[in-house]
Amino acid sequence: MRLSEEEKAILNGDQGPARQKALDLLVKYGEALDAEKLVETNNVIGAVVSGLLSIIRTNPEISEPDEAFSKYFLNSEKTLPIPQVKAYTCHVINSMDPAHWEALGFQRKELETYLKMEKFCARIGMQMMNTCTPYMLGNVPVKGEHCGWMESSAVVYCNSVLGGRTNTEGTESCAAAMLVGRIPYWGYHLDENRLGTHLVQVEYDVESEMDWGLLGYYIGEIVQEQVPVIQGIKHTPNIARLKHCGAAAASSGGIELYHVVGVTPEAPSLEAAFGGRKPPQSLKFGQAERKMAYDILNSGTESDVDFVMLGCPHYSLEQLWSAGKLLEGKRVSPNTRLWIFAPKALKDIADRQGLTQIIESSGAVLMTDTCPCICRKAPKDARVAATDSAKQTHYMPAILNLPTYFGSQEDCIRTAVSGKWKGELK
Ligand code: F3S
Repeated sequence: MRLSEEEKAILNGDQGPARQKALDLLVKYGEALDAEKLVETNNVIGAVVSGLLSIIRTNPEISEPDEAFSKYFLNSEKTLPIPQVKAYTCHVINSMDPAHWEALGFQRKELETYLKMEKFCARIGMQMMNTCTPYMLGNVPVKGEHCGWMESSAVVYCNSVLGGRTNTEGTESCAAAMLVGRIPYWGYHLDENRLGTHLVQVEYDVESEMDWGLLGYYIGEIVQEQVPVIQGIKHTPNIARLKHCGAAAASSGGIELYHVVGVTPEAPSLEAAFGGRKPPQSLKFGQAERKMAYDILNSGTESDVDFVMLGCPHYSLEQLWSAGKLLEGKRVSPNTRLWIFAPKALKDIADRQGLTQIIESSGAVLMTDTCPCICRKAPKDARVAATDSAKQTHYMPAILNLPTYFGSQEDCIRTAVSGKWKGELK
């Protein structure tokens, strides 16, 4: 691998042992991927708290974050002083909402350890956004910016909607990247890998959030890990629709980049999205494909629903507002729990506006910093769930052993109020 003079100096130990180890790991990782070089990045997303917690859980002899970080993120038997991050780094969604630890079923001891790890991350300079939607809190990479992001829904949003450049990194590669501001130059950092591989001709008028989720889920099933180019959209989507589409496509398949002709930055035209080539493969999305995606997601047969989850990916302020309007003056069924998830910074605005109060007066709970699949918690004794997220519907049965219905936000709120599944494909 070609290294710059500065990178050689870091490898030589000139910036301390932690950065030396971090760069050594990134070089080995890049060489395994045949990357010709590392690329500078000043935008990393890390999952250090959850990573440290799982190390401590499985290694009871370790209790200090520096020791766990050194041993498992930097492959060092010796505990190294962990320096401040070099790249601007935001903490991704986390494994607990400290304001609702009891409702989530955590022990006080677990809360204390969590807070200790958060304090460590803040000390080394990570921005504790604790969300899978950092782009809603001002982390908006510009087109062409090289990033080191993780979390599939965030990665696909960064690549597709913003035109930032990232692969789906892992906890360890992000931990190393944030210390040295470098990431291997391969995959979606390269122009040629960002061109479309499949043309998706949309023949149904996709407009609602639910439809964008179904579109993404269907495309992911077919295209798997390649690059779809969506053509035929009549209504310009907003943030909520694009984040829902990408999250769904990244869960049914492994899509990290999609283009929407006339909407996303690398697809001003069909020609641009395919780099002037003829689309190598094509598929369509019409009524039948929409129904197929809905049926795959909704295989449940029970009518009673005792857990409704909203906010995957974390809700935007606009989505919180529309949930508030639907919940105003209503009560969640005594047999059902409604948990809504959003970034803490947006909840602060919702608090100020009185929106949290409207939501919580209905009996719903507005949580932050985590989600059921990441903290692996659902309400005690929950048996059947419903959600407006195709991604959450995909993962909840496997992670939480909960059969899960998929519908619109309105379907889910009607379900929470009645305790019975109220969804339908209109
Ligand atoms: Fe975010 Fe959790 Fe969904 S990480 S995308 S809310 S599964």
